[in-house]
Amino acid sequence: MSTIGFFDSGLGGLSVLEVALSQLPGHDYVYLADTANNPYGEKDGPWIKARGLLIAEHLSRAHGCEVIVVACNTATAEAIQDIRAHFPALRIIGIEPGVKPASLQTQTKRIGILATKATLESKKFNALLASMPADFEFFKIPGTGLVELIEEPTRNDQLIRAWLMSNLPPTRECAYDTLVLGCTHYPFIKDLIQSHLGPSIALIDTGQAVVNHLARHLHPQQQGFQTSPQQGSLQILCNIDPNLFLSKAQKLLQRTPLSNVEVQLLAL
Ligand code: DGL
Repeated sequence: MSTIGFFDSGLGGLSVLEVALSQLPGHDYVYLADTANNPYGEKDGPWIKARGLLIAEHLSRAHGCEVIVVACNTATAEAIQDIRAHFPALRIIGIEPGVKPASLQTQTKRIGILATKATLESKKFNALLASMPADFEFFKIPGTGLVELIEEPTRNDQLIRAWLMSNLPPTRECAYDTLVLGCTHYPFIKDLIQSHLGPSIALIDTGQAVVNHLARHLHPQQQGFQTSPQQGSLQILCNIDPNLFLSKAQKLLQRTPLSNVEVQLLAL
């Protein structure tokens, strides 16, 4: 049994945590939502780096996490190298926009990437694009303002559709045939994005790939996912209004009952 920390600026990392809880039960999970600083996507690199280091230290020192999943594309892009360098004894698993899986899926070699401004501008993400074969074409689409809509206490489909209409216009349909959801918040509105773009556009997200990576680390000998006889736990930490966070989280995590979950106010 391991203690696994997850962190994100808010609700987004729950899209990855939910997969882990269902496929890798029997571990102790600590989910840290840095809600006081949400969204990360408009912040600068040095700030995100410093914040990532502070959070990793807290998860390790105060909660005994041996594994930390940076369940945020923005924090992975800006901070993961430094977190790994500062905490060599910890296993740090990150998430990055699924450019590689998208390259296997696309028929036209034209791929859209919807991600935060910070992710799209980061060195790490641009190095990933530069590593791809030259005949692929990438369309970077900043998701500015979208995370805030997903963080609302109740999902407002009309506002999200209006955002999609102005930022992901259907005219782009002919530009790419595959769209990467490069932010962990976006899987929560996958249905709206798919119906906006139409069924011919493939949507790629990498939550399952991260959980596969986590599974290989936790159970190196095991083939596939197996249920564990041990009872795991889930603890949630956030730095603004824990009750509000819990009610928003419960609306998004329909498969995971949170009624017995403790949410602690984090002074970080
Ligand atoms: N969910 C995060 C990501 O994957 C952060 C979004 C934000 O805070 O801007 O990038």
